[in-house]
Amino acid sequence: MAYFEETVEVMVTAEQIQKRVAELGAQITADYKGKDLTLVGIMKGSIFFLTDLARHVDLPCTIELMGVSSYQGGTETTGEVRVTHDVTKPMHGRHVLLVEDIVDTGLTMRFLLDNMAARGPASVKVATLLEKPSRAKVKIPLDYKGFTIEDRFVVGYGLDYGEKYRNLPFVGVMRTD
Ligand code: IMP
Repeated sequence: MAYFEETVEVMVTAEQIQKRVAELGAQITADYKGKDLTLVGIMKGSIFFLTDLARHVDLPCTIELMGVSSYQGGTETTGEVRVTHDVTKPMHGRHVLLVEDIVDTGLTMRFLLDNMAARGPASVKVATLLEKPSRAKVKIPLDYKGFTIEDRFVVGYGLDYGEKYRNLPFVGVMRTD
């Protein structure tokens, strides 16, 4: 990991992430026991969180992916969200858990919650690895949250900058020195 650690300053270590993800998985397992759970990972940022989390959910759940695009490049959201990949099965009657990498302004998650609610699921909840509350433009109920972070642009464990750095096992801030 020499290259990664030279270019990115660690904010949340791989160990901290793995410990927290296991805790969230145990909580989800307890909460959804006996229910028809579908994990809906939001591409591409959530894929690392989704696959680690799913392995800690001790239930026969199904997995779907949804792709949305809210960034036109750079680090600021435009607020405009569009679906680039939809789930492959009807969500009607299912207990849906949206799995996201980060809730920043909250605009993407607001869109996703409204979009899911329109499909008539039994319930919709949110699991996010990170939250940047200082940037919130809309209030989103976060049912399962990994870490609250300060207002820095972070990369790693799924989060990208210009499509790179997703494969870092930790979350960090790019070094500018
Ligand atoms: P929101 O709509 O502003 O909440 O933005 C949500 C999306 O913006 C996330 O799913 C990420 O793809 C992206 N995003 C927000 N903050 C960061 C960051 O610090 N690093 C990388 N991507 C980010």
